[in-house]
Amino acid sequence: MKILIAIGTRPEAIKLAPLVHELVNHPEFDVEVCVTAQHRSMLDQALGLFGIVPDYDLNLMGQNQTLAEIAGRILINFDDVLVRSQPDVVVVQGDTTTTLACALTAFYRRIKVAHVEAGLRTGHRHSPFPEEINRRVATVLSDWHFAPTERSAMALRAENVPESAIHVVGNTVVDALRIKAQEVRDHAAEFEERFAFLPKEARMVLVTCHRRENFGGGLENICKAIAELGRAYPDTHIVYPVHLNPNVQGPVKALLDGLANVHLIEPQDYLNFIWLMDRAHLVLTDSGGVQEEAPGLGTPAVVMRDHTERTEAIDAGTAVLVGSDPARIVASVSELLDDDVVWRRMATAANPFGDGHSCARIAEVLVRDAKPYRGGEARF
Ligand code: UD1
Ligand code: UDP
Repeated sequence: MKILIAIGTRPEAIKLAPLVHELVNHPEFDVEVCVTAQHRSMLDQALGLFGIVPDYDLNLMGQNQTLAEIAGRILINFDDVLVRSQPDVVVVQGDTTTTLACALTAFYRRIKVAHVEAGLRTGHRHSPFPEEINRRVATVLSDWHFAPTERSAMALRAENVPESAIHVVGNTVVDALRIKAQEVRDHAAEFEERFAFLPKEARMVLVTCHRRENFGGGLENICKAIAELGRAYPDTHIVYPVHLNPNVQGPVKALLDGLANVHLIEPQDYLNFIWLMDRAHLVLTDSGGVQEEAPGLGTPAVVMRDHTERTEAIDAGTAVLVGSDPARIVASVSELLDDDVVWRRMATAANPFGDGHSCARIAEVLVRDAKPYRGGEARF
């Protein structure tokens, strides 16, 4: 049975890498990986770390690509890959343009689709944009829905997805973290040396930000808040690996370059980033994946979004939602820096996103339920 795994961006690579390794260990499956390369260097960084060499590389990233441009190019080029690979199942993850376009292309060819990280919803069409619509459409295109939590499964049931197609498995990012975090902790001294600009005793706040709905005014507000925090806490170091999207690079470098305790650095490979999350007093982020990983390392997350599809983190007490209002960001980060009781409560709350064994559960379902194509409908 041929399984083709489609990957476009950094988080898809991190979240699907442990699944590739899991499926390869099952003799029932012939596993191939196709990267659309919607991301390039950020994707390659993640793939390299997990030792994944794609069977197909569409190499589609363009500078400042539009959504329609990248989606259209994936549809055409991924269809060629389907014809060459002739898979029985296509696996997609999450809610990117790659997720949506690859699921749609597979559907056009009557190939079954397995959706990993299914059922995340904010209920707001434009937040996150365009991800909320990408994942809703991915749901209607998919045959297997691997929900990370019971709450995501409920969202799928509410959209009339059949119960037999929903499987609550946890989030595969916890698998990735489980595999790599020990490696990082075993080599702590090397990472300390790599980030020697951080004084040993100094507290550190880690920042990431890249969502489209924060572009423009939202991102400027976020930068203002970071600058204010840098001035208010001169002994605290703020480390910000800046996403390569030019809509992020431009304003961030213009507004934050040159502040003594704010370190703007390149996107980091996953091992470095795990070390930074582990070392951080808190993370200030609008990332999905980071909200799921930080609690696994005992690091509170302050989430710079108006709506979250990861309400489990808020309820578990591992994250707080503050939007992009500078006053709220500063107040929330200050509270965590100033009040040890509040910090400890968040830092010790349990990770609601899984136990790090999601990929084994996904493989078990696919071994049981996936069937090789036996003809019937014309596909190619
Ligand atoms: C994409 C996903 C988003 C996901 C994020 C993870 C969509 C619509 N968005 O957003 O859901 O959370 O990835 O990071 O699918 N770039 C580079 N090098 C890279 C990667 C990006 O230069 O390795 C630049 C390019 O100019 C590219 C731009 O960033 O055109 C935007 O990339 P794109 O994948 O379209 O959107 P992201 O904002 O990265
Ligand atoms: N990440 C990384 N290096 C960085 C920043 C993030 O490896 O410099 C990892 C992070 O640990 C998480 C994933 O990238 O697993 C999140 O990606 P991103 O924030 O780009 O996307 P999102 O999760 O919001 O879709």
